[in-house]
Amino acid sequence: MTHEEKMNLLIDGKYPLSAKYDPEWIFENKMGCQCLWLAESLSQIMILKPGMRVLDMGCGNALTSIFLAKEFGVTVFANDLWVSPSENWDRICSAGMENLVIPLHGEAHALPYADNFFDAVVCINSFQFYGTADNYLSDYMARLLRPDGQFGLVTWGPEKEFSGQVPPELAEKWWPDFYYFHSLEWWKWHFVKTKLFSIEAGDDLQGDGVRVTRQWAKIMEKDDNTHNNEIMRWNRMVAKRNHSRADDYRI
Ligand SMILES: C[S@@+](CC[C@H](N)C(=O)[O-])C[C@H]1O[C@@H](n2cnc3c(N)ncnc32)[C@H](O)[C@@H]1O
Repeated sequence: MTHEEKMNLLIDGKYPLSAKYDPEWIFENKMGCQCLWLAESLSQIMILKPGMRVLDMGCGNALTSIFLAKEFGVTVFANDLWVSPSENWDRICSAGMENLVIPLHGEAHALPYADNFFDAVVCINSFQFYGTADNYLSDYMARLLRPDGQFGLVTWGPEKEFSGQVPPELAEKWWPDFYYFHSLEWWKWHFVKTKLFSIEAGDDLQGDGVRVTRQWAKIMEKDDNTHNNEIMRWNRMVAKRNHSRADDYRI
C-alpha cells in the first residue's frame, strides 16, 4: 500500500471531526490506533463543555488532548508517563492550544492532582497498562473525579472474556501481556464493584469496533489473525462518579 493510500484510510466519513485533522500529523504521532477516532467516538457519549477540567490520562503524544480542547473548549491536563511534557508542549503550541492544554508527567499511582479536581477523566487505549488491579480505582483514581463527574474509557479487547484458553484463531500471536485486554462487560464490573461508579453508557463504538481494528491493521499492514477476526474490537464506556468515597466502605 502506498503512503498516499494509507493517508486516505486515516480519513473516515464516520468520524467527521477527526477528518478535519492532517493525516500526516496523525500518522507521525500515532501510538496504538487512530486515536482521534477513539476520542471522537467517546465524546459522543460524554458531556464535554467549555470550562470543564478534563484529565487525559495516558495521553501519549497528546493528540487526543489537543482534539478535545479544540473541538469542545474543555481544559485538558495531558498526563503521560512515556512521553515527556516538553515534547507534548511543542505539539500543543504548534496546534495553537497552549491556553487550553497543560502537559504533565505523572505515573498512574502517584498522580499530582487535588481530590475532586476533575469534571471528567478520559483514558484512551491506556488504562489496561495500569488500571486492571481490583484496588486501582478505589485507591488511586476515583478521588480525582468530583461527584457526578464522568470517566470515559476506550479499550481494545475481546467480545467476551476467554474461558480456559485463547481462541485458536488468536492463539498464535497472543502474548502473555495481552491478558490485560478485557471485554466491555469485564470493564463495567471493574468499575461498578467499587461502589464508586455507575455505568452510564457503553458499546463497541456503536458497532464499529471490529471495523476500526481492521482498518487500523490495514494502515499498519498487519495481516495477522489478532487484528483480523470478529472477536477483538474497540469498546467505549462512560461511568459516573457516585457521591460515595472509598473511605465510606473501609472496615
Ligand atoms: C498505547 S499508548 C496510547 C496513547 C494515547 N492515549 C493514544 O491513544 O494515542 C499508552 C499510554 O499509556 C501511558 N502509560 C502507560 N503506563 C502508565 C502509567 N503507569 N502511568 C501513566 N501513564 C501510563 C504511556 O505513557 C502511553 O503513552
